[in-house]
Formats: sequence, structure tokens, C-alpha cells
Amino acid sequence: MRTLLALLLAAAPAAAAPGAGARAESLLRRMTLSEKLGQLQQLGGPVGGGPELVELAAEGRLGSTLNVRGAKALNAIQRAAVERSRLKIPVLFGFDVIHGYRTVFPIPLGLASSWDPALVERAARLSAREAYADGLRWTFSPMVDVARDPRWGRVAEGAGEDPFLGAALARAYVRGYQTSDPSAPGTLAACAKHWVGYGAAEGGRDYNTTEISERTLRQVYFPPFKAALDAGALTFMSAFNDLDGVPASENRFTLNEVLRREWGFRGFVVSDWDAVAQLIAHGVAADGAQAAREALTAGVDMEMDSRLYGAHLPALVKAGRVPLRTVDEAVLRVLRVKEALGLFAHPYADETAAAGPPDAAARAQAREAAVRSLVLLKNDGTLPFPKTVRRVAVIGPLADDAAAVLGSWRGDGRDSEAVTILDGVRAALPGAAVSVATGVAVTGGTDAGIAAAAAAAKDADAVILVLGESGDMSGEASSRAHPDLPGRQLVLAEAVLAEGRPTAVVLLNGRPLIVPELAARAPALLEAWQPGTEGGDAVADALFGDADPGGKLTMTFPRALGQVPLYYDHKNTGRPFEAGNHYTSKYLDESNDPLFPFGWGLSYTTFALRDLRLAPARIRRGGRTTASVTVTNTGARAGDEVVQLYLHRTASSVTPPVRQLEGFSRVSLKPGESRTVSFPLGPKELGFVGVDEKWTVEPGRVEVFASTCSVGGLEAGLSVAP
Ligand code: GLC
Repeated sequence: MRTLLALLLAAAPAAAAPGAGARAESLLRRMTLSEKLGQLQQLGGPVGGGPELVELAAEGRLGSTLNVRGAKALNAIQRAAVERSRLKIPVLFGFDVIHGYRTVFPIPLGLASSWDPALVERAARLSAREAYADGLRWTFSPMVDVARDPRWGRVAEGAGEDPFLGAALARAYVRGYQTSDPSAPGTLAACAKHWVGYGAAEGGRDYNTTEISERTLRQVYFPPFKAALDAGALTFMSAFNDLDGVPASENRFTLNEVLRREWGFRGFVVSDWDAVAQLIAHGVAADGAQAAREALTAGVDMEMDSRLYGAHLPALVKAGRVPLRTVDEAVLRVLRVKEALGLFAHPYADETAAAGPPDAAARAQAREAAVRSLVLLKNDGTLPFPKTVRRVAVIGPLADDAAAVLGSWRGDGRDSEAVTILDGVRAALPGAAVSVATGVAVTGGTDAGIAAAAAAAKDADAVILVLGESGDMSGEASSRAHPDLPGRQLVLAEAVLAEGRPTAVVLLNGRPLIVPELAARAPALLEAWQPGTEGGDAVADALFGDADPGGKLTMTFPRALGQVPLYYDHKNTGRPFEAGNHYTSKYLDESNDPLFPFGWGLSYTTFALRDLRLAPARIRRGGRTTASVTVTNTGARAGDEVVQLYLHRTASSVTPPVRQLEGFSRVSLKPGESRTVSFPLGPKELGFVGVDEKWTVEPGRVEVFASTCSVGGLEAGLSVAP
């Protein structure tokens, strides 16, 4: 699909109708250097804006703002630009709309657990409409960093460890934000971030260095970005990390060679916050002038927050150390994106249409998204609780914590509008006696409240134990060296579980947690992530059987921190683990296996797969086949299953992962109902990055697995002839 921007940019300027790229060329010819550099400046501001932003806009020296919100405040800045500046170039207003704006959806790691791209697209669509109503036209989303380390706090913002699923969701977010016409009302420019490799931070410590081979970049980290670009993403954001010694925000290979020359990206790149200035701390720039020069000439078009372009580029251009052509190219990219967004034609927000509290339809959508993001990790039959229970104990430090359901990057979400787990349980069982006990603090604290919590459990017919992380324990700058249950929560859990009452543990967290003891002891374990504005209602729907939790993990839950990094598409090694054989790849003190693997998730019903078929089972290189499999609901309740298709190349010029996801489909089935799902397999799915760093399909035998998780399942053999 040729995106609007591609059409705009492809149009020959001379022949194009006004506004089809011609405007950008014409404006550029009239711009002073100061006005050009103004377009390359993005500045943060308080929600209400402020006089400096208005004045800079009036002088034509402000390309974009971030964090300022509200139609009135943004129109004040826009009027200065459009009615007072010399060339009347509109300002582009950005904000982090990551998992919702006023209606907050589950964090992206939760939304990903739905394995439902259409649901993600709808969530992005609603978020864009709400943000647009507040005057915003650009979101710094989707975050498409593949992440394999639960210590890293920003796993909360992404789709987890798999490139194929990450790519599918990247497309969904971009389509949701931009639609096919990003100039239409209710749309936002998307921003694929953080380009690139940010999720591979050593030690899982945010902003830390990364060492990624080109082959792994291309095989694992690039695909979700390429998917976002192919879906028409108008902008990219360069990352903080250094990549094999070259910071991503001055990396000519990734910013120019790959993004523009190989992939043909025609939008613009904005730096992450101060990432240009941080080149000095990285040790690759002696001063601000060098940082500005390196970043701009490498391909960072717009500078977020730091002001080095404006401060140093006039002298650098005058001295011939930065070609004016380089500045012009960056300015053209920015102007063309503004054109693609229709900003010249419609620069102002409607001040009568501000985004208000979530209405019933928005709440229903958020509730559906939260339900479909739930992952039932364990269930001995305790769940669902009967709705006839009369005495319910809701226990734990997060039971009534609004911030814990809204999570990080809550947009314009309000605690007062969030439904906590306690709110949800009370609403689900209006006639029941609901006792509440926090027991312990989220972190630190003492065991003083545990006795009361245990007593509450003892008197209850159903116990809901809400544990995990507070809303600010994941997200940016929130890595954890001990990603387990914080504080004294495990002690609380053991005391409550010792009462032997029907108990379900609900986890609220922004990352996979290392909870082997809890998983062993809890009769039922429901992963709710940070489920958003309607999180409490969604969790209650699942706990009391009004909804079937059908989500699946998109990131491995390790058994121990010592196993990290631990991910499903790992290599086999030359000495794969073999029980009884000492000299194989293993630990002396821990299994190689995860606590819960990628793709894991239970349901209140059961499913079976049968008849995995390949038609045809023999193809030539470059050929295509179709894998099909039938899934049946073998239980007594309706439910959802996610059928997953994995491949394993048995002989290859590059060591292949033991499995890699190449297809998935979430199906809803009534008891006894069956459905056959099909997955096309062609060069895109069968190929891989070869020794020459190029995409290749090699002859040989490919094992094809159809499963409901990244382990086990049905197997068939595909033969790829030369
Ligand atoms: C932050 C984040 C980035 C975000 C930007 C603007 O530092 O790294 O993801 O979009 O700054 O808030």
C-alpha cells in the first residue's frame, strides 16, 4: 500500500498540485537558516504551554512541541505560528500516547498478550481520537523494541520478545493512529521507536550499552520497525543507547544506510529526549557543536528538547562543516510530514471538542481489551469463582491501587476514572460481603498487617490476593535487579494461602516477574499486567466467569534471574541439554526451562489440535505452501485459543533458533466447536538473514509446529528443494 506520504513525496514537485510536496519546496526556498533550524527544534513544555513557546512560534523558530496539551493552549501556540510568523508554518504537537489517552488501555505488554492485532488497532484508533480532541497530532508510539530481559523496565511498553508478533502489532498501532489518511480528523502521526536495539541494554539496565550483531539486528530487532514503516509510519525516534560503540542517535548505518537507502523511509527522525546532547556523555562528541553536527549529518532530523541544532548549526553551516543541503533535506522531511497530516490546511484544534472522561463506549472498549489481555497462568479449578459467593476477601497492597491498573505512560488518564480490582469485585458482587486487607506494603514495610489479612482470608468463601508492582516500578528508568515480588508480598501470600480457602492470585505488574514459589503455591494465578481504566471490571469478569481469560504470554517468565536472558527462540547450541549428560548446556542449580514459556496461557475450557497439514509438503526454494490445523473446544465452556505456528530449519548456513513464530490466530469457540486455521508460508516466513546479511531461503527440511504455546504441539515436515 503506497502511503499518503509516499504519494506526496513521489509527486514531482513542479507537476504536483499545490500541497502535494510543492508547498514544502516552495517554503524551503523562502526560509532563512534560522527558520529552517526552527523546524528542526522540538521543545517540551508544561501542559498549558507558555510564553516562550508562543514567542518562538511567532518568530517561526519552533517546529514542534511535546507534552503541551489541550486545544486552547495548543491553539495559542499555533495562532502565533500561523498568524504572526513570516512563513506561517504550523507547529506539530506531540505527546506520548502509548496505551491510551484519557481512556487508558492495558500497557502494551498486556495488549500484546491478547494476540489480537485488530483489538490493538481499535485501541490506537480510540486513543488517537481522544488525543486529537485535545489538539495533539503526533504520538511517540508504537514502541516496537524487541525485549528479552525482564529487568528492563521498558518491556512494559513493547510487545515482548518476538519479532513476528511485534511486527504484526506495530502495523496495527500505525494503522490505528494514522488510518489510510493521516490528514483526516482524529488521526495522529505515529512514531516507531526507539530506533534501534534499545531493548538489548546490557544487564537490563535502562540506557545501557548494547552489542548486537548486524545479523541479529536484521533478524530480531529490525522487523517490527520495518513493519511500522511499511504501514506508513510518518516518523521514527532515534534511541538513547549506543549500538556496537556507535550511539543510535548518530548511527549512519541505521539512520541512513538501512532506514533511508535500504528501506526508503521518507518521513523524519526525531531524537529521543536530549539524545543529541547525550552524545557528549557517550564520549563521541567533545561539545555541543560536534554533537549537533554528528546527529544531523547521521540522519536525526529533529532535536527533542536539547537545543544544540539552533545553537551550533548556524556557525557550522557558515564554516562549511555542515552542508546547507543536509539542513534542507531535514527541513523538507519535516514540512512534508506536516503536509501529510493536513496541518497547513487545518492547523487548529476545535476548542469545543476537548477529550472528556471516558464514555460508556470507551469504557466498554477498554474493558474488552483488558479482558482479552488477561493471561491465566495457572488454575487448579479454583477459578472461576461462583457468583453465589457471599463472603469475599480482597487482599494485598495493590487491591485498591488506581496507579497500579493505569501503569506507566498513562497519557491523560486519571486515577479517579480508573476501576481498581476492589472496585471491580464490588461491582461484580453487589450483594456479597467484601472484606479488604492490604497486608503489607508494595515494597519494604513490615509483616504487621499479615495476621489481619490471614484472618480476612479465613472468614471468606473466596480470596482474591492482588500482588505485584506499583505503577512506577516499570517503564522508563525503572529497571529492577531483582524482578521478583517486591517487599514482603511473598510472606503475605504464604500466610493467606496457608488458610486453605479458595484463593486466586491476581498479578499487577509491568514485566515478567520471577515468582516460582508463588506459582507453586497459588491454586490459581491470573496475570493482569496493568490493565487500564477498566482493569478492575475486566479482572472481575474473569474471576467470576463472565469472561474467559484467553491471552498468552509474549515474553518468557524465567524461573530464576540467573537464567536471563531467557527467550523461546533461542539457539540449540552444539551441546543442547541432555538429562544425565554432564557435558551439555545447563546449570548445576537450575533448570533450563522457564517458569512459564512464551505463548503460554490457559482458559476455563480446554482445546485440542489435530490434522496439521502442509499443502504442498514439498516446495522449491522461493515457493509457497499453506499450513492448516484444526482446533476444537473440548471443554464445557466457550473460550478462546491462540493457535501458533512455529518453524525450525534443521540445516541452515546460520544457526537457526529452535523455533520461531511465523503465524498465529486467536479463535473463539463454543463447546465442541472446531475450526481449521491456515497459515501461508513463503519466502517471508521461510527465509532468514544469511551469512551475507541478506534475506535468503535455503533448501532443506523445515520442521513445522502447530501449537498453543512455544513448546509442544503437532509437527509436520516441509521439504524445500533447491
Ligand atoms: C522519553 C522516552 C521516549 C519518549 C520521550 C518523550 O525519554 O525515552 O520513549 O517518547 O522521552 O517523552
